[in-house]
Amino acid sequence: MKRIAVLTSGGDAPGMNAAIRAVVRAGIDRGWSVVGVENGYTGLIAGSFRPLTDRDVGGIIQRGGTVLGSARCPELRHEAGLVAATRALEHAEVDALIVIGGNGSQTGAHALASRGVTVAGIASTIDNDLVGCDVTIGVTTALDVALEAIDRLKVTASSHHRAFLVEVMGRDCGYLGLMAGIAGGAEAVAIPEVPASVAGVAEAVRDAYGRGKAHALVVVAEGIRGGVDALAQELMAHRTDVGFTVRVTKIGHVQRGGAPGAFDRILASRTGAAAVDALARGTTGVLIGVIQNQIAETPLAEVAGRTKPIDPALFELARVLAR
Ligand code: F6P
Repeated sequence: MKRIAVLTSGGDAPGMNAAIRAVVRAGIDRGWSVVGVENGYTGLIAGSFRPLTDRDVGGIIQRGGTVLGSARCPELRHEAGLVAATRALEHAEVDALIVIGGNGSQTGAHALASRGVTVAGIASTIDNDLVGCDVTIGVTTALDVALEAIDRLKVTASSHHRAFLVEVMGRDCGYLGLMAGIAGGAEAVAIPEVPASVAGVAEAVRDAYGRGKAHALVVVAEGIRGGVDALAQELMAHRTDVGFTVRVTKIGHVQRGGAPGAFDRILASRTGAAAVDALARGTTGVLIGVIQNQIAETPLAEVAGRTKPIDPALFELARVLAR
């Protein structure tokens, strides 16, 4: 192994820079050269590489986003895109590729591995929907950002005796919503994995009002059927029944822009170096994550196209603690 490439793909996540830094420095420590691919798979197909030295990745561990840039790249789902990406790696004399990203990105990594590219993935997305890891890089910081908003919303909600529906990201996965609900002390959580949670919101809000609470805070995952606006309209239509007036806040991309906290920096540093170790051992086609605090390698074939289920016990915990 002489030269490796690293790219960040899909939605950016706090800690991606720390992972890039770890890949570059761990690679250089083995005597390899490292090149960065600009703007994810889009840059790979276009052959946009730049050399990365240990100095190039100085001062980035504490920065959110990704210094390499990122992109959604539908072209990689097609044969022509895969051929172009493979050729670009050959042309740049790259021996192996490290892909830092979430579900779609690792599905792309699997497609490249199936074509013979030596590749390792690093689990990074604020959605935490990837099989093969307990927690992805970025989700903990994104949760902290969501919590700051939730804590503030509870203040104004109490002053006005309102119910707030707070929409958080997560695509089709309710992990971010569920955890924000537990940590934010929400009166209810609505997530796609539990359809009954949407129907139960009115009851939870009514219940909070009936027990004399000053507000009701509902965390809504963006992936629920019908979306947060339809849910708000339904509540407002039953205004007298639910007690509170209703407001909606969508936190949206704000969740992605935070500076990574200690947990994400350490997770990214560990998995970045572990991806280099895996390649050095001749391993390919795996996702690097942490399971029960140990580095884990999961075949990309088991990761691609799958979504990690949520723990039903955590949903029950959110319900019990909402009293
Ligand atoms: O996958 C990360 C994520 O932030 C999802 O939670 C969200 O649904 C999506 O990306 C938003 O994508 P985009 O930044 O392309 O609008």
